[in-house]
Amino acid sequence: MNPAGGKQNVAQTTANPGPMVGVFDSGFGGLTVLRALLSKIPSANYLYLGDTARLPYGAKSQATIARYAVESARFLEQRGCEYLVIACNTATALALEDIRRAVSVPVLGVIEPGAHAAKRAVGAGAEVLVLATAATVQSHAYHAACEAVGLRAIEVACPLLVPLVEEGWTDHEVTREVLRIYLSEALAKCKPEAVLLGCTHYPLIAGAIETTLRELGSDAVVIDSAEATAEAAAAALDVAAGRNSPETSLSFECYATDSVEKFQRLGSLFLHQPIAHVHHLDLGG
Ligand code: DGL
Repeated sequence: MNPAGGKQNVAQTTANPGPMVGVFDSGFGGLTVLRALLSKIPSANYLYLGDTARLPYGAKSQATIARYAVESARFLEQRGCEYLVIACNTATALALEDIRRAVSVPVLGVIEPGAHAAKRAVGAGAEVLVLATAATVQSHAYHAACEAVGLRAIEVACPLLVPLVEEGWTDHEVTREVLRIYLSEALAKCKPEAVLLGCTHYPLIAGAIETTLRELGSDAVVIDSAEATAEAAAAALDVAAGRNSPETSLSFECYATDSVEKFQRLGSLFLHQPIAHVHHLDLGG
């Protein structure tokens, strides 16, 4: 089944009449956003870049994250992208303004759409637990974005989750145990109505997060910003959401800065689409 819900071919070429959209993450996590974009705007062409050689970003300094993210954004612009989606909360939190200054095309981050999605789900005044990388938490970008829409955010860093997802351990006892520890510590401090996945890797373990919350007695709704980000991109690009014809081919190309074999294998699982070919890209150290 394809994510657009229609009968489509999967052709990883620039075949469609729509715009060329660049999607960037430090690794596989942004594929959760690409999946939503393919579903919402199937008429576009996508270039996805996973900076897997330099991941994790979430444990690095602002200067390093900004340097890496700007290099990646420039690459996508040079390859003809007319619009960039920063499908990485860490790069959005720490480097969105640097990226916007470095390129001349519009740039969308994932944090504002995520805060809006949480507001729609639980309403103003609610308490929201934001799970994110250490760098995102330290930036308090979610605190600001949630406050702007009338939500109270409690931000908790979960540094072990990205390596577990990048290892493909999305359904693994170790991941479940790590989640039990993070979530029981977080729930000792707050009683949230929503848990906002503040890292694009986390939707890949959303099921385990929800199960663990229930085991711990929380009925908080789990919010993934991918869908809301795709909606914001569709509005900005002024393309009718879901506009498509049965002949339209999903059009995407993937670049990775580390092993293309690993990216192809795990990425296909995470994208729910076969990835026929992954280009290797060397962005230096
Ligand atoms: N997927 C990235 C995010 O949304 C973080 C991964 C990393 O630490 O590199 O924050």
